[in-house]
Amino acid sequence: MDRVCGIVGYVGPQQALDVCLEGLRRLEYRGYDSAGVAVVCADGTLRTARRAGELRNLEKLLADSEPLEGTTGMGHTRWATHGGPTDGNAHPHTDCQGVLAVVHNGIIENHVALRAELEAAGHELASATDTEVVAHLLEDAYDPVTGLAAALTVVVNRLEGAFTLLVTHAGEPGLVVGGRRSSPLVIGVGRGETFLGSDVAAFIGHTRDAVELGQDQVVEVRRTGYRVTGFDGLPAETLPFHVDWDLAAAEKGGHDYFMQKEILEQPTAIEDTLRGRLTADGRITLDEERLSDDDLREIDKVFVVGCGSTYHAGLLAKYAIEHWTRIPVEVEMASEFRYRDPVLDRNTLVVAISQSGETADTLEAVRHAKTQKARVLAISNTNGSQIPRESDAVLYTRAGLEVCVASTKCLLAQITATSLLGLALARVLGTKDGEEVAREYDTLEAMPGLVAETLTRMGPVADLARELSPSPTVLFLGRHVGYPVALEGALKLKELAYVHAEGFPAGELKHGPIALIEQGVPVVVVMPSPRSRGVLHQKVLSNIAEVRARGARTIVVAEDGDDAVLPYAEHVIRVPQTPTLYSALVTTVPLQVLAMEFALARGLDVDKPRNLAKSVTVE
Ligand code: F6R
Repeated sequence: MDRVCGIVGYVGPQQALDVCLEGLRRLEYRGYDSAGVAVVCADGTLRTARRAGELRNLEKLLADSEPLEGTTGMGHTRWATHGGPTDGNAHPHTDCQGVLAVVHNGIIENHVALRAELEAAGHELASATDTEVVAHLLEDAYDPVTGLAAALTVVVNRLEGAFTLLVTHAGEPGLVVGGRRSSPLVIGVGRGETFLGSDVAAFIGHTRDAVELGQDQVVEVRRTGYRVTGFDGLPAETLPFHVDWDLAAAEKGGHDYFMQKEILEQPTAIEDTLRGRLTADGRITLDEERLSDDDLREIDKVFVVGCGSTYHAGLLAKYAIEHWTRIPVEVEMASEFRYRDPVLDRNTLVVAISQSGETADTLEAVRHAKTQKARVLAISNTNGSQIPRESDAVLYTRAGLEVCVASTKCLLAQITATSLLGLALARVLGTKDGEEVAREYDTLEAMPGLVAETLTRMGPVADLARELSPSPTVLFLGRHVGYPVALEGALKLKELAYVHAEGFPAGELKHGPIALIEQGVPVVVVMPSPRSRGVLHQKVLSNIAEVRARGARTIVVAEDGDDAVLPYAEHVIRVPQTPTLYSALVTTVPLQVLAMEFALARGLDVDKPRNLAKSVTVE
């Protein structure tokens, strides 16, 4: 079962292999356990090539083999769960005759029963994947008179779970058929050529005109265009859109890693997310509002849900939204929220944050909230993706394409967006008037400059990271808004450098974690501002003294002018003075750089950390 894979399909005048390999290069962040292609060749045969490991292994195989020439094809890059990352489990999978091929993203939950049925009927399945059953079901359903799309329509109705499927058939050159349920698929509309992709990055080098496929739809793609039907076989509606970023965004632009590029793009991500949101009467505009002001005035509780870094954006949102609106805010990991029967009703606003808009845990949280009649607002970086589609209102972050698996600029854009949401709610609820909202907005507008200033100071952080890189453990402490930042610093280090890293509220230290401190353990501390949090500042200094007394190496992130930290810190990382509720936008930056440089010093690929993939499209 493969859950976050990248998929590309092509029909047109170019060599399909070249287009598919280019697409896979841009989609590799969705999985890199294996890669494969299928081409309907000029001689009327269907040929496939597959290899375990990164895409370059497949490219080497292809370079050493007879060329796969043909103008219809598809490709796949895999993130494996069940069925190990082997050549044999790599997609595409074919039927018994080898005339049709399938690539798949998602889980076919009833694959065991389907496999038993197929084997009893004499089919021979060669892999340990769930995907292969689709190829054999299609073999049975295929009729050359009604064609491949009709066969796929029959087959998808037999499948349970979440899936995107692409199929090609040797007998139907010039056609790729796709189908989707709860897993993404986008059509790229070119001139005399048509593309399919898990996301627009698959074809951004060729066209920016795209069409988002809806839930339970099948698409036939030919050179001349596309035709979409529902799983019931009837013509269906789709959502065309123009991609507002271009090929340059999908390239490294002179940087060695996407992560470097994306860290540097953070001021622009914040600026673009803020742009044009404030109206003349001090209101904040969202992108899609299917909720009226009267609906919002009924809200008496907010839940923020997300996963990973996005959950940290949620933790930060709590401080701002509660402070400005005086409405209680609960924050929960989407995977936990969904299954514990949270108390929700029509007066609850569930804020679902997801960069990709695809994360299955968050999508399921949204669906659960809707069954409980709660109102749902999505914050997402991906136009038209599933989570925004199923929500009552949407606020898009405008961070542009994020390729590095570890989130950086999208997180900062999410923090910005939750601030905007807090202000929008405060204005509607009357806890802030237009002038106050406009003043906060002005302060937010200064943040890109402060983040840019922070980025100019990262040279010493890189040196420090290299020095610390042999350490097997790094701890992160913070209080108030510094606590989610500490969690984020630890997550980044874990996922990029594969070292043990944990974030704690500094005040919790004495209740257990201090036992982890031993001679030389690096402890990174995110200081509160002495200007606005004098008491907390003093308390965190005491926490630093406690770990130092036990041998820790203390690295302190402190704002300019905070000289009280000097006697407590072995290293001070300076950030510009920033209002408390926005300070995470600057304090997160050195922790991102620390993790990246730490991992690079260990010789690791920061864009593609092991075992991970960018969007996790099943639970
Ligand atoms: C960590 C990271 C992940 C994502 C998480 C949610 O660097 O990138 O923790 O934040 O998988 O993804 P989205 O926001 O797409 O729902």
